[in-house]
Amino acid sequence: MGFNQLARPYRWLERAVFGGRLQRARCAHMQTFLAAESILLLGEGDGRFLEALLAAGCRAQIVCVDASPKMLDLAAQRAAGRGEEKAERAIRVRFLNGDVSDLRLPGGFRPDVVGAHFFLDCFREQELLDTAANIARWSAPGATVVITDFTVPDGGWVWRFRGHLLIFWMLFFFRIFAGISARRLPDIHNLLINRGWNCREKAIFDHGLICSWILEPPHKRS
Ligand SMILES: C[S@@+](CC[C@H](N)C(=O)[O-])C[C@H]1O[C@@H](n2cnc3c(N)ncnc32)[C@H](O)[C@@H]1O
Repeated sequence: MGFNQLARPYRWLERAVFGGRLQRARCAHMQTFLAAESILLLGEGDGRFLEALLAAGCRAQIVCVDASPKMLDLAAQRAAGRGEEKAERAIRVRFLNGDVSDLRLPGGFRPDVVGAHFFLDCFREQELLDTAANIARWSAPGATVVITDFTVPDGGWVWRFRGHLLIFWMLFFFRIFAGISARRLPDIHNLLINRGWNCREKAIFDHGLICSWILEPPHKRS
C-alpha cells in the first residue's frame, strides 16, 4: 500500500482540513535549516517543505528520503528549478526512494540538520525509537533535528476534544488508505526526552494541535 495513491490529492486534503497551518508549522524553524551545510529530510512527501526551503535560499546539500516513489516524483518536480539553477540543484538535491529502516545514506553524507515533518506519527512507538536511534547515528556531531508533528492539545477541553477527534480520524484514514502502522498518536516529544534527547525550542500551532521542536540527539550535545 503506502502513500502513492494519496500523493496527488495529499496537498488538497491537507488544505481542506488545516488551511495553511501545517505549512506554517513545517517552516517554523526555517533559520535552522538555512544555517545547515547538509540536510536530511525524512518522509519528505510531496516536497512542499523542500520547495519552501529552496525558495528561502538554502545552499546546503540535501537528501530527501521517502518510501513512496510518487511522493518523491512530486518533490523532485517542485525542487527542479529553472535554467542554470536546474543543473546545480540536480547535483545538490538528491532523492532516495526506500524505507527509512533500510536507509543507506550516500557515502560521506552526515547531515547537520535532520527534518521530519508529519512523518514520525506514521509509526508505532518502537519503530519511532529505532528511527530516532538511527537519526542520532547518521547525523554529524552537534546536529540538530527538527520534528514537526501533531500533539494532543493541553489547553481547554474544546481544543482537547477537537484534537482527539482530528487525530483519531487522521490515523484511521492513513491506516486504511496508506497502511501506516501507528494505532495511536505516539507522544514523540516525551518519548525522545525520556531517551535523553534535549529540546532546545518549541513552536506551537493551532491551539496546541501541532508542534515543531528543535531537538538534539543525546550523544551529540557538547
Ligand atoms: C504523512 S506523510 C508526510 C509528508 C510530508 N513530510 C509532510 O510534511 O506532509 C508521511 C510521508 O512519509 C513517508 N513514509 C511513511 N513511512 C515511511 C517509511 N517507513 N520510510 C520512508 N518514508 C515513509 C510516506 O510515503 C509519506 O510521504
